[in-house]
Amino acid sequence: MRVLGIESSCDDTAAAVYDSGAGLLSSIVVSQVSVHEAYGGVVPELASREHIRSIVPVVEQALAEASSGKDDIDGVAVTAGPGLIGSLLVGLCFAKSLAFAWEKPVLGVDHLEAHLFAIFLERGTGFPYVALLVSGGHTSLFRVDGVDAVTFLGGTRDDAAGEAFDKAAKQLGLGYPGGAAIDRLARQGDRARFSFPRAWLSPDSADFSFSGLKTSLRNFLASAEARAARVEDIAASFQEAIVDVLAAKAVAAARREGISRIVLAGGVAANSRLRERIEEDGKASGAEVHLPPLALCTDNAAMVAFLGERKLSAGRSSGPDLNAYAASRFSR
Ligand code: KG4
Ligand code: ZN
Repeated sequence: MRVLGIESSCDDTAAAVYDSGAGLLSSIVVSQVSVHEAYGGVVPELASREHIRSIVPVVEQALAEASSGKDDIDGVAVTAGPGLIGSLLVGLCFAKSLAFAWEKPVLGVDHLEAHLFAIFLERGTGFPYVALLVSGGHTSLFRVDGVDAVTFLGGTRDDAAGEAFDKAAKQLGLGYPGGAAIDRLARQGDRARFSFPRAWLSPDSADFSFSGLKTSLRNFLASAEARAARVEDIAASFQEAIVDVLAAKAVAAARREGISRIVLAGGVAANSRLRERIEEDGKASGAEVHLPPLALCTDNAAMVAFLGERKLSAGRSSGPDLNAYAASRFSR
């Protein structure tokens, strides 16, 4: 089965073609970062307009690179949520219209669930595994026992980890999105120089909280100590506060669930210190850690096409009432 995947939940317009036998045939991602950076964050209305501009050329390119047309595609998978409603609707309406015109099945895919299975586009892993999904919009832990067997273990009560990185970068004047800039500076900094708070919550909690950390950085930056500090040391110490909690909670969740595999997903999985720490902490606790390549961690349609192929192959499809949803469907 060959599936066209479409993703437009936030600020990337993406399309990909995945084939059950041949694997991933194409994956195109057009980023809108240059449109939003002047505003220091994603502007929903601008995002929708950019998706409208990009969706046709992006899908055409994905089909062309996969040498595929109407007769080669067996189904269309599209991100239905969670995300920005205006953005989601562009991809969703396009996918439904194309599937209708081509007389193919269409399937709505959950964006978070798709992230959790991106690992299978590379070398894959066995089930079950614990997945830490860390992006600009989400910070959650899941137990994955198979396709359609995903359990939410915990998530952030306020800011996502990527959001914390981006807001800190803004306070430090590093531009948007600033996660990668903090990562770069932190490599030259002393991570034990300053002590920022870690919100562990209750000992067995798989929940996260990063809003206190953000406030703590703001207060620190207003101090005389900060004016004399090296920005590299601030970045390294701030990053360590986030990474400490992410790595420890992922490893603890795997131990609690009796699972020996940990998978990292989402844009913050690009963070070099997080990759290092989760590998070290995972190894120390006897877990196998899977770090997908960065192109599969950030938003893409390959993961949507892959999960769509698994579900469409199993006979699943959506009806004409398929609609977009803004909030995550995963909760305890
Ligand atoms: O998954 P993603 O591409 O988009 C969504 O949020 O859905 O993730 C983007 C987030 C941004 O917050 C960005 O600052 C963060 O990932 N990010 C990083 C790094 N690279 C990207 N955060 C920390 N260190 C990095 N190297
Ligand atoms: Zn995402």
